[in-house]
Amino acid sequence: MTRRNGLHPDTILEHVGRDPAKNFGIVNPPVYHASTVIFPSLKTLLETRVDRASGAFEGITYGREGTPTTRAFEEAITQLEGGYRAVTLPCGLGAIASSLMAFLKAGDHLLMPDQLYAPARQFCDDVLAKFGVEVTYYDGTVGDGIRALMKPNTTVVYLESPGSLTFEIQDVPAITRVAKKHGATVVMDNTWASPIFFHPFSHGVDVVIHAATKYISGHSDLMLGVAVCNRASFVPVKKTASTAGYCGGPDDIYMALRGLRTLGVRMRRHYESALAVAAWLQKRPEVHRVHYPALPEDPGYRIWKRDFLGASGLFGFTLKSCSDRAFAAFLDHMDLFKLGYSWGGYESLMVPTYPSTLRSSTRWEAPGPSIRIHVGLENVNDLLDDLECGFARLRAAA
Ligand SMILES: Cc1ncc(COP(=O)(O)O)c(C=O)c1O
Repeated sequence: MTRRNGLHPDTILEHVGRDPAKNFGIVNPPVYHASTVIFPSLKTLLETRVDRASGAFEGITYGREGTPTTRAFEEAITQLEGGYRAVTLPCGLGAIASSLMAFLKAGDHLLMPDQLYAPARQFCDDVLAKFGVEVTYYDGTVGDGIRALMKPNTTVVYLESPGSLTFEIQDVPAITRVAKKHGATVVMDNTWASPIFFHPFSHGVDVVIHAATKYISGHSDLMLGVAVCNRASFVPVKKTASTAGYCGGPDDIYMALRGLRTLGVRMRRHYESALAVAAWLQKRPEVHRVHYPALPEDPGYRIWKRDFLGASGLFGFTLKSCSDRAFAAFLDHMDLFKLGYSWGGYESLMVPTYPSTLRSSTRWEAPGPSIRIHVGLENVNDLLDDLECGFARLRAAA
């Protein structure tokens, strides 16, 4: 499936994955709750069966293999990303795990960026390593220098741009060019940018992962993942997810599809407010550095500007050296920025981060504590006031 020619993503968002004419004129597709599917005849049962051997995953056969609600969501996200077909998973980490397992076997070599989402690293170290997959963590900013790390048995190159917590931008086209030359499959986590701000397939990526838990659903109330595949990668990913027993819950899928309709307007608002907050933080005397690729001073700015269409509401900043008491005084008692691990919802959040403990091939040094901030959809001046009060508490506790 290709991107709908000529239509703006905002228009695509409102029309994909639904067909009122097939549903009494009702605008949104229904939620199908199903395990059992009844077939009218033996002939129909045999014709609609899932055939793992040939890779035929058509029709509706059993709840775990997906319902029309699942298909509507997959069709929508596939069209937005410009992929071939998508596979729905119970969460973003499930999408990462099944996409990696789909292309790796014992004896293979995997390249993962060092600035990676930490649970994905754990999956590599605790599960893939146990099954004989060799993992190298490369500096995500290496660009075509990745050539030096490719081995004859490198079968998968993984990307996450920007990196988790520290937000380094990767040169996706340069890395995919090298990976393709070596015949490796390229898997990319595109959760940060969403399909609105970055299009991995146009840069040579084979599998695009989204934690739909974040921006796609957008309301902090569900867990869901999706792997959007090109023609060559669909059957391996679908087979792996189906064989491992991964599927999404119908209500969560419905709500993700509902959230998707407003993705464009939400992302532009996150971008606008995050840029204002990041620029404001840059000027604060308490702040050492802001890590947001949309700031001209950021080391990733040039590549971000070249490849991305915008930036999301998630970024990092490091404080100058301060006491634990002052740091706690800053984070505690925030009125709008609540302490919480997730992001991508409508609300603003902050969480302390410890990047130096999560790396093996690169170094992370900062004079003070690090924070990941998610700038939500609230009024930006109210958010700045909240931060201003936080800095006043930090200074008072110093
Ligand atoms: C970049 C990134 N990818 C994937 C995930 C995993 O998504 P989930 O929590 O739905 O498993 C997260 C979660 O925080 C994330 O930040």
